Amino acid sequence: MIDYTDKIPNNVDLGRDRVLQRALEHWQPAYLSWWYDMGPNESHNFEVYLRTAISVEPDGWAQFDYVKMPEYRWGIFLQPRDEKRQVNFGIHKGQPAWQDVPGEYRSILRRIVVTQGDTEPASVEQQKMLGLSCPSLYDLRNIFQVNVEEGRHLWAMVYLLHRYFGRDGREEAESLLARRSGDTDNPRILGAFNEPTPDWLAFYMFTFFTDRDGKFQLCALAESGFDPLARTCRFMLTEEAHHMFVGESGISRIIQRTCEVMKENKVDAPADVRALGVIDLQTIQRYLNFHYSVTLDLYGSDVSSNAANYYTSGLKGRFRETKLEDDHTLQDATYPVSEVIGDKINTKQVAALTALNERLRDDYIEEIQAGVNRWQRVIDEAGIPFRLTLPHKGFHREIGNFTGHFISPTGEILTEEQWKAHEFEWLPTSEDYAYVQSLMSGRVAELGKFANWIAPPVKGVNGKPLDFQYVRFN
Ligand SMILES: [Fe+2]
Ligand SMILES: [Fe+2]
Repeated sequence: MIDYTDKIPNNVDLGRDRVLQRALEHWQPAYLSWWYDMGPNESHNFEVYLRTAISVEPDGWAQFDYVKMPEYRWGIFLQPRDEKRQVNFGIHKGQPAWQDVPGEYRSILRRIVVTQGDTEPASVEQQKMLGLSCPSLYDLRNIFQVNVEEGRHLWAMVYLLHRYFGRDGREEAESLLARRSGDTDNPRILGAFNEPTPDWLAFYMFTFFTDRDGKFQLCALAESGFDPLARTCRFMLTEEAHHMFVGESGISRIIQRTCEVMKENKVDAPADVRALGVIDLQTIQRYLNFHYSVTLDLYGSDVSSNAANYYTSGLKGRFRETKLEDDHTLQDATYPVSEVIGDKINTKQVAALTALNERLRDDYIEEIQAGVNRWQRVIDEAGIPFRLTLPHKGFHREIGNFTGHFISPTGEILTEEQWKAHEFEWLPTSEDYAYVQSLMSGRVAELGKFANWIAPPVKGVNGKPLDFQYVRFN
């Protein structure tokens, strides 16, 4: 169980290590002041119907109650230790899992923890303004739930930095509160986390596409031979599932509403659809193209010696590593990656160890495709002849083998001029953003009411009805 009587709730027996406890208690006010500045706008007095973890077991989510968000009990929760756990891949395969940081891997591990940690506050910063234009109280509650949990994920990484990386760990923990999403001087580490999330369509896309990158990174780190990292990530994954639900169901509800309006009014031209105050499917496709392509870049280069090192050293595994049936060292295995040669996209086999980024990206794409297929079903069931598609993997990429090439959504290699001539059929235009923004002029806060551009969800939170007071504004 989690101890909520401590100043910092935890299940790691924090009270036994006074130095660590004091260091974290010193970081806590800095964190709160970051939350006051960069957390959701105007939310400090709201009481929000939030879930709080009461234990780290899969059914430990029992507690739902009103919480003033700055009083949310951010804490440190790790899955319990399995004494028999081993390093399950790489050159140390078969050794007992490490309970401390192996000296030779210290700086790589710190880098991994910092890079993961940096994404957590970044997304809170990106979503800061959205509460002011929520489509319902239900959705407002959901975004706040996501935000407090991203804050907790930051705590999870900061615990590892303080506990295992000494002074440089503490310095990194401070830097995590100093960088800002989109800041020109001190930006967040990864590209997608510096892109704005200007509206709720972008928010749902972000939680579907980019939080799912988070899931895949966490899954790979949950296999780590460094046991405290693995145990931390396992618990974070239980929180992540909800974020992706918010994204997938949010987009699904927008599509559903658009299709209803199109059918009722027998319209299909985007301008006519917009005239009825809902988001045309073409704009949804352009947002999808954007969020998908910037998220694919987060996996890094297709061929990467760093990825090989992380794996060989036992620090970062593959998706579902222990369920895969092979030698878990990948010494002789190969893996296909794409490259652009002249006017063709070729596939070549490379050493599987160097292609682990690409492999994780492919695992991700498979899951994304399944989600897009579920959205498509909503369109099909409405009888509307529109196909929502994932663009080609090489479309609009800035990292890896496709960088510098102009690939259409269907995978043709174009010249820069050809690409530019179509760019705004494929990616959101300033006009698209302005239109979506125009739908979100204010907060929909009436009980049980939903904005015109989105359908209500199938059910409420924790068995509560849709007209439940999910947020009290005071
Ligand atoms: Fe997270
Ligand atoms: Fe998340």
